[in-house]
Amino acid sequence: MRKVVVNLRERNYPIYIGWEIFEKFPKLCLSHKIKPHVAIITDTNVSSLYLDKFLNALIKNGYKPEPIIVRSGESSKNLSTAMKIYTQLIKINLRRDETIIAFGGGVIGDLAGFVSATFLRGVNLIQFPTTLLAQVDSSIGGKVAINHPLGKNLIGSFHHPVFVFSDISLLSSLPKREMICGLGEVVKYGIIKDRKIFEIIENDVEKILKPNPDVLLEIVHRSAIVKSEIVEKDEKEKRLRMVLNFGHTIGHGIEAGLNYRKLKHGEAVMLGIVGESFISLRRGLIDGKTFERIKNLICSLGVKFPKKLLDKEKILTHIGYDKKIFSDRLNMYLPLGLGKMKFVDDVKFAEIEKAIEFIYDL
Ligand SMILES: NC(=O)c1ccc[n+]([C@@H]2O[C@H](COP(=O)([O-])OP(=O)(O)OC[C@H]3O[C@@H](n4cnc5c(N)ncnc54)[C@H](O)[C@@H]3O)[C@@H](O)[C@H]2O)c1
Ligand SMILES: [Zn+2]
Repeated sequence: MRKVVVNLRERNYPIYIGWEIFEKFPKLCLSHKIKPHVAIITDTNVSSLYLDKFLNALIKNGYKPEPIIVRSGESSKNLSTAMKIYTQLIKINLRRDETIIAFGGGVIGDLAGFVSATFLRGVNLIQFPTTLLAQVDSSIGGKVAINHPLGKNLIGSFHHPVFVFSDISLLSSLPKREMICGLGEVVKYGIIKDRKIFEIIENDVEKILKPNPDVLLEIVHRSAIVKSEIVEKDEKEKRLRMVLNFGHTIGHGIEAGLNYRKLKHGEAVMLGIVGESFISLRRGLIDGKTFERIKNLICSLGVKFPKKLLDKEKILTHIGYDKKIFSDRLNMYLPLGLGKMKFVDDVKFAEIEKAIEFIYDL
């Protein structure tokens, strides 16, 4: 089992990562002094696959777990589901010094995280991510949120877990499309910070998707290091953390332009990565060879580009509503090469437009 420590001002916490480490979870709870009464928030898919095994392991070690199951999918990440969870937590009498375990993908991590940040003004949280996206991204960094009908992730807080526990063997049951979505963020880490990640995906993508324990462990571990190092340096979303938005300005525009249908977040981000790298290429910040590698890697992941549905104007309008915008200039990190980024504050809409046109023709 590997361990990455996130060093924050107020306290540090570990991320445990390994293949088939499920059984170690209760012992870690004991060593982190987690009280016996715990609530497990999970979704219908994860519970049908793993909940019994999880409950048994906890009970065997003296824990008293209380499962709360919500419907799988983004539509559960809202205030009415949170309200139902609060009601259950009150009924089971979860106390302030007790713990909520978020057992699922990013939806559960964000929802259960939001509930634990707010219930009784904050209870302990353990993140047990079960998707690639959640293991490399959403479980790390303390951002928790629910959606509002007018926008995603608009209601939230920062709430760090006691620890994060990533058993990567659970990814064996993840649908291929979800794996690829997670890989979108992993490719991003390869470009913004750790070129080795990029090279592993270039050489071993089949092994990752299979999944092969050694290769997967390496990329999840390296990704956790990249994300936690950036979070450590900039806890509250100031300029440095913006590097994590690479691919996301255009990616969010595409997602929103398609009304969050057709393309999943990770797929839209991959298109965004190509688009934003294209801006870098046109500015002479990266060479043609590096750009080709980025483009080819993303195309090789087989993301389907719904050409007919990509309405450029709509995408641009959505990017116009981006909170990072100042007049007609956008702030953004652009790649200088694999593993190296530059902050720029003058990206014009015309450049974004050209990038979107390029994506059209992929
Ligand atoms: N807080 C952050 O910093 C942050 C960062 C990125 C994304 N997010 C959020 O994360 C969410 C997306 O997360 P996601 O992609 O994990 O989606 P998800 O939680 O909906 O999981 C995807 C699907 O996989 C299923 N699933 C989960 N684990 C499984 C397993 N081991 N085997 C089989 N099926 C499994 C789920 O039931 C769901 O159907 C979004 O709401 C996004 O806003 C948050
Ligand atoms: Zn993302």
